[in-house]
Amino acid sequence: MSASAVNLVSHPLVQHKLTLMRDRDRSTKGFRELLNEIGMLLCYEVTRDLPLEMVNIETPLLPMKAPKIAGKKLTFAPILRAGVGFLDGMLALVPSARVAHIGLYRDPQSLQAVEYYFKAPSDLSDRTVILMDPMLATGNSACAAASLLKTRGARDIRFVCLLAAPEGIAHFQSEHPDVPVWTAAVDDRLNDHGYILPGLGDAGDRMYGTK
Ligand code: URA
Repeated sequence: MSASAVNLVSHPLVQHKLTLMRDRDRSTKGFRELLNEIGMLLCYEVTRDLPLEMVNIETPLLPMKAPKIAGKKLTFAPILRAGVGFLDGMLALVPSARVAHIGLYRDPQSLQAVEYYFKAPSDLSDRTVILMDPMLATGNSACAAASLLKTRGARDIRFVCLLAAPEGIAHFQSEHPDVPVWTAAVDDRLNDHGYILPGLGDAGDRMYGTK
């Protein structure tokens, strides 16, 4: 199978907000609000090609056929904890979406993803799953989360992040060539601790003020 597509979201609002988030002096509150706003904008992009069907409705003046989203229902799947930063923005656009929570932490030595929580709707095989995590760094968490979703039946997965490292994209594409990626930027590289450079630091810590 050929490598999954990487969709770079170059919309000026997304790029502007990302620059504000990178600034080391951005407050916790400001960082969290921006992540939420970008979540909404990325949701708009990742759902751009959802199929429509024509349905019969009646306006106050006339009956007509009008487009409505057809096909599979959406599930949003944030990787805890930073992925939750996108969730409210996405749910604002698709309030009826279900939510799957995926708890993974990164072992600081091995940088491998360790599962500690998974709770998802039972009908994942009938749903389009939007997997989300702001940072695609080593790709270990994203790969593990996509594998968990597939084990639980998901067959149609899209991955949304804010920032990606080339190493993370290559890793993710090699393990999940069927899962397309949406990102606002691809940065230069990872440092020895698996952080994206220039990046924006630890997204979870910056969202919740834990450092
Ligand atoms: N996770 C983060 O929060 N930041 C990085 O740069 C890499 C992984």
